[in-house]
Amino acid sequence: MTDTTTTQSEASVDETLAALTLEEKASLTSGADFWTTKSAPGVPSIMLTDGPHGVRKQRANGDHLGITDSVPATCFPPAVALGSSWDVTLLERVGIALGEESVAENVGVLLGPGINIKRSPLGGRNFEYLSEDPIASGVLGSALVRGLQSQGVGASLKHFAANNQEADRMRVSADIDERPLREIYLRGFQRVVEDEQPWTVMCSYNRLNGVYTSEDPWLLNTVLRDEWGFTGLVVSDWGAVNDRVAGVAAGLDLEMPSSSGRTNAQLVEAVRSGTLAESVLDTAARRAIDLAFKAVAGARDGATYDADAHHALAREAASASIVLLKNDGDLLPLATDAAVAVIGELARTPRYQGAGSSLINPTKLDNALDEIRVLAASGAENVTFAPGYAADGTEDAGLVAEAVVAASAASVAVVFVGVPAEQESEGFDRDHIELPAEQLALLDAVIAANPNTVVVLSNGGVVRLSGFADRVPAIVEGWLLGQAGGGAVADVLYGAVNPSGRLQETIPVRLQDTAAYLDFPGEHGHVRYGEGLFVGYRWFDAREIEVSFPYGHGLSYTTFDHSDVSVTTDAAGLVVRLTVTNTGSRDGAEVVQVYTSLPGSAVVRAPRELKGFTKVALAAGESRVVEVAVRREDLAYFDTRVGQWVVEGGSYTVEVGASSRDIRATSSVEVSGDAVRVTLDLNSSIGELMAHPVASQFILQAMASQGEGFTSALMDDPGMFKMMESFPIGRLAGFPGMGIDRDQIEQLLAAANAAS
Ligand code: BGC
Repeated sequence: MTDTTTTQSEASVDETLAALTLEEKASLTSGADFWTTKSAPGVPSIMLTDGPHGVRKQRANGDHLGITDSVPATCFPPAVALGSSWDVTLLERVGIALGEESVAENVGVLLGPGINIKRSPLGGRNFEYLSEDPIASGVLGSALVRGLQSQGVGASLKHFAANNQEADRMRVSADIDERPLREIYLRGFQRVVEDEQPWTVMCSYNRLNGVYTSEDPWLLNTVLRDEWGFTGLVVSDWGAVNDRVAGVAAGLDLEMPSSSGRTNAQLVEAVRSGTLAESVLDTAARRAIDLAFKAVAGARDGATYDADAHHALAREAASASIVLLKNDGDLLPLATDAAVAVIGELARTPRYQGAGSSLINPTKLDNALDEIRVLAASGAENVTFAPGYAADGTEDAGLVAEAVVAASAASVAVVFVGVPAEQESEGFDRDHIELPAEQLALLDAVIAANPNTVVVLSNGGVVRLSGFADRVPAIVEGWLLGQAGGGAVADVLYGAVNPSGRLQETIPVRLQDTAAYLDFPGEHGHVRYGEGLFVGYRWFDAREIEVSFPYGHGLSYTTFDHSDVSVTTDAAGLVVRLTVTNTGSRDGAEVVQVYTSLPGSAVVRAPRELKGFTKVALAAGESRVVEVAVRREDLAYFDTRVGQWVVEGGSYTVEVGASSRDIRATSSVEVSGDAVRVTLDLNSSIGELMAHPVASQFILQAMASQGEGFTSALMDDPGMFKMMESFPIGRLAGFPGMGIDRDQIEQLLAAANAAS
């Protein structure tokens, strides 16, 4: 997307900047209060507000943890749900609606989306993030940004970067090797920045490899701006500034919230004393002015939005996000005249969003029980209700007994269970992934009374299902679905909507099986990402670990066939073409997932990695040819030797499937590689020299000069050659009988380097 606003107003931004005093420039780079920026001559103040799945504009006494009240706004499904829709168009529409509500509230920047990777199921804020996969996070995050910014409202892509846990989040150092950092944790951010130019990026609280992200010149300037071409403003997470002068020098433009002038004075002093170049402060102030101009250009006095239409969109989005995990014997959808026992307080008192800064004051709130009664043929008569457990989690044998009676009298029991609100919030992580004991006990009792039991889950991060998944015929993963989630659940239960969500997070058999189990949340201020590249399904697949439900899984009330898969290459990458057929008797939507791998790769790789996907709606019996484009750059790994993305040449395996463990077709395609120029030196190994087109010739010649016997002793004996392979060439110089000295080796290396 080209940012025309910036270009048009560039001259006026510069003129405005030139007229400001040093103090005024410093003041523009920090907030006026909790949510607004400072004004200066010619520069209006603008409002930034949370985000991400609704507009949380506080009425008074701002705080950033959702403590004080905010104006009513549509609470769309949080990212955990939206991500599971895998629906780019839908996320863009939600982004547009968020933009409309922001404009109506005179909000210039909405603080979202959050696209951090779900590294561990324990992550306290997983409900605010889209996926365990970087391409999925990037593509879906882009859609939200595109929709929002199309309304003249800025996005704030957060939390940049590696904010994958809440424990010690304001200090902890995420210690990550460069390949996983680039390929897993930064890749999604890169995608959104390059494709959509969010107006702002929010740096995180934590440190990354020892450096606060709010003062990391490598992250904020080298990577974000120089490599990815980011032209917007970097805002601190609220309170993330550690050292303001170091931050501005590193590329941090706006401190939020206000520090009441204290750190502005530090900036002024740093410029006066010569420790900070005024031009650096000018750059930050220029970006703040540019942002204010863009926000003002997008503002529309008197703008309103259609709250009912947005509620309907929230319902549509929620129903598209629900994942039908299991449906043995087609227990679902329910017949409208079925005798249904709805059990569980969560059916009546929904948990529909997480806690903390994203807490929205909804315009209205549906609950599943009422909505089920609307859809059931004769409402209250067919549908009984028993709360089953107390809202506060206390055990109550009477409530269980009542639920058992209701379940026994019904043809189907629909049991709502989930994670209590106090266990899932910004600011702390979960301790476990277990459902509450009293809910599990209730479930056991209900299953015993009526085996036709459907479980409906409400949770922001995954929960362990392995204790009961094989004892119930149907499980509906209902996440946290926003204010219209109750209706969405009813729609799916009765088949008014055919479920089409797919997991963005693997559901493990046990917490102990997960990748970060031994390295979460770290200790003494450091968390080591010891699993490296192997996050989520990459880990389970590489270790061949059984899971309860794999990444990408989700059922439908119809079935889909994938056929005629072909893969071709073009300059942009791969084009995967296939025919998808709805082979059942209901309309529905399939998520076609494309995974690649490179057998025999020279670098460590996961057995399969998601590289593209598309969601396709098909009427019953309909067939359609669909295309999934895989960008060439998405095939690249980050080569730490040269500090560059590199596409390795070779025959790539392309898997097309309905989940990461339901691969329907496998194909392969030859991809030409990028040339990698690694400078050879005395520490280069014989193996590396042998792999080098020019150096290998010299080596072979040098060996030949030692006589036939020498060459064959080395080359024909695999054990000997393997041993020699790792030998640095410089160490050979001067070995008795080698017949090659250091000078000759240096000449050889120089010639090889010059020739490549
Ligand atoms: C959160 C951000 C949020 C900000 C403002 C911080 O605590 O990490 O996500 O946007 O507060 O409320």
